[in-house]
Amino acid sequence: MFGPDIKKCLNVEDFRDAARRRAHKMVFDYIDGGSDDEKTLAQNTAAFDNYELLYKVLTGYDSPDTSTTLLGEKIDVPFILSPSAGNRLFHTDGERGPALAAHEVGTVYSLATLGSRTIEEIGALTEGPKWFQLYVWKDRGLVKEMLDRAKAAGFTAMFLTVDMPITGSRERDPKNGFTIPPKIGPKQIWEGMKAPWWVLDYLFRPAITYANLSTTTSAVSLNKFIEDQMDASFDWKDAEWLLGEWNGPSILKGVVRTDDAVRAEQTGFNAISISNHGGRQLDTSPAPISCIEPIREAVSDKTELIVDGGIRRGTDVLKALALGANAVSFARPYLYGLAAGGEAGAIRAVELIRDAIIRDMILLGVHSVKDIDRSFIRKK
Ligand code: LAC
Repeated sequence: MFGPDIKKCLNVEDFRDAARRRAHKMVFDYIDGGSDDEKTLAQNTAAFDNYELLYKVLTGYDSPDTSTTLLGEKIDVPFILSPSAGNRLFHTDGERGPALAAHEVGTVYSLATLGSRTIEEIGALTEGPKWFQLYVWKDRGLVKEMLDRAKAAGFTAMFLTVDMPITGSRERDPKNGFTIPPKIGPKQIWEGMKAPWWVLDYLFRPAITYANLSTTTSAVSLNKFIEDQMDASFDWKDAEWLLGEWNGPSILKGVVRTDDAVRAEQTGFNAISISNHGGRQLDTSPAPISCIEPIREAVSDKTELIVDGGIRRGTDVLKALALGANAVSFARPYLYGLAAGGEAGAIRAVELIRDAIIRDMILLGVHSVKDIDRSFIRKK
């Protein structure tokens, strides 16, 4: 085993420590960091502490049914894996890690537009359900081409991310001189001495690229890349056009306001991802857990809500479900696992959350995800 012993990791925070030890500082900080003062980043997790779980007693021990459905598809756990960019930056296994982890626990993997393994490779890797996350390129031909490729490769839903017209200011990245692909100067060599296994991967494995783009990208900051390539003027009319192009199940990702949630429903999205991009975009935007109830009240029951942001424990998942979410999603937990131990690390990190949900459902006194309602939670 090269790097930290992932068997010793008992929770997401342990995986975070292990990732910090194995990965190069610049890539650890890219996973771990948020924008500006990182207030939203901290709040996303901390806000779960504003709620308490009111467990029921004497409900009879039973092995709980953790399954549910999302967009008509049965999943074995009430979570899916959020999309995240450039996973080969963190470990050479890249997106294979989380895709296999999702399959292992019987849930959806969502591949990012800016993934470092191809749509076709990930599509063929497992039989499990997969969604394709889309950013809207200035080149609309490229958008159509990506959607066609995703459909052909078996991706069943379009996960449209709309909270990133430009990137937030993640100050750790320029301080580390971080670019994609990474540029290696004296600072990176210095830090690289503390991350030998990552450096060996970097030197002896295929170069890290945005695998779904035919154009080769030179090392630039993410901000510059997004500014050059993505369409910041994209609006509701364009979203409608895109729904027509995709003509299949769709999720709008990055919503925190009730009026946007209602508009998403009216525009034809089947699900809403309540998310602030992991505290990486507008700092001081609210924690997703606090946005569930108003959005649940504003939209109809048929619109499914997926809550993304700050999930670290099984109890976090149960709180989101009790407040009205249909499921949750997360990226950092599996990214820490991936950065710490490749495919095995990503799988273990996701299994830990699955096991915690089972344990916590028994302790909460519920037999199935359907039983988890508002009566199980109260605000402190
Ligand atoms: C990020 C983008 C690429 O958060 O999703 O880094």
